[in-house]
Amino acid sequence: MTYGGYLQLESLLGLQDGPEGYSPKPSNDELHFIIVHQAFELWFKLILRELKEARDLLNRSSVAEQDIPVVVRHLERVTEIFRLLADQWKVMETLSPQDFLAFRDKLGTSSGFESWQMREMEVLLGLDNEQRMGGMDPLAHMERLHQEGKVPDNALASLQETASMPSLNDVLMEWLTRTPIHGSSPEDSGDEATVKAYVEGHLDTMTNHIDGVVRHMVAIGHGDETTIRGRLEAGVGSAKTFLMDEEGRVNRARAGLLFIESYRELPLLSWPRRLIDSMVELEESMVLFRSHHARMVERTIGRRMGTGGSSGVDYLDATTAYRVFVDLWAVRTLLVKRSALPDVKEPSFYGFNARS
Ligand code: HEM
Repeated sequence: MTYGGYLQLESLLGLQDGPEGYSPKPSNDELHFIIVHQAFELWFKLILRELKEARDLLNRSSVAEQDIPVVVRHLERVTEIFRLLADQWKVMETLSPQDFLAFRDKLGTSSGFESWQMREMEVLLGLDNEQRMGGMDPLAHMERLHQEGKVPDNALASLQETASMPSLNDVLMEWLTRTPIHGSSPEDSGDEATVKAYVEGHLDTMTNHIDGVVRHMVAIGHGDETTIRGRLEAGVGSAKTFLMDEEGRVNRARAGLLFIESYRELPLLSWPRRLIDSMVELEESMVLFRSHHARMVERTIGRRMGTGGSSGVDYLDATTAYRVFVDLWAVRTLLVKRSALPDVKEPSFYGFNARS
């Protein structure tokens, strides 16, 4: 085995001259442009692999406790890659607007918009199409690009396979549905009543909290009582809609999520909490990656249209509002300080002595 042979360096380093017959050969600036893109796509390849491993570990009717740290490790690696990539735009920014214009026409209509790995990452994570600009359907888009010869067979097949499976967000929510709440699991008798009482208790705590917050806000001059009270009561109303449907049936996954976030100190919940934290961290790193891309693009091409035909920076900025793990973000609004919450029932179930 040799270094070059193991890494297939000869092949790898022969891939920066542009496609067959590309003329004129890439300038130094264009070589830089190609290498930065290729480096991104290589990292995308690894991200897909890591996320698929994480999805498969969670996509089970019962997830072994020792698998949770493994999932967290996959997610943490992806987060670090996104952080690295967010910084990598800095290298791209050494390309001045004029340097880029010198070869931009050679790109034709090709654009990162056609990156099938980017789309697969989004689908794998579970980005809802309704959030996408113009409700774009990534599968239909890639099928069209495939017909036009812009996306290879294996890439389309991989995207289709990923789309046919539950996303990371799906498996996470399914797993959260099984969270023991006050010691009760979905298969236990009386679980429905326990979970409902928990959720109603939390909503009551939120409501009871209102008076103190109103007094404080009015005292520091942040508005009049009626406006502030109205806003806080609306918050409790949204919390109720988040946790229960119109018939009063509790969404158990969301209740489980609220429970884990509320009783973070319970030893049995420490890895589930880490898992949720690492999902949020991953999404935050992806949002920052998108945002840094938009800033780099604004600096390089201003407000002109993208080569892929989008509005350019406006489109990229709009993608920074996408959220995959919507419930993980939403639950934050419902949290109440720990000291205002009732003690957990059945603390020994969570590896915690009531007096400790
Ligand atoms: C001078 C450098 C760059 C410019 C001016 C630029 C510009 C743009 C623009 C304007 C878009 C919106 C789609 C369009 O209309 O084309 C876009 C999308 C995209 N670009 Fe870049 N880009 C650059 C470098 C890169 C690099 C190095 C990557 C790494 C792979 C990349 C990946 C992407 C991806 C994945 C999208 C799709 C984003 C989405 O739909 O969410 N771009 N780019």
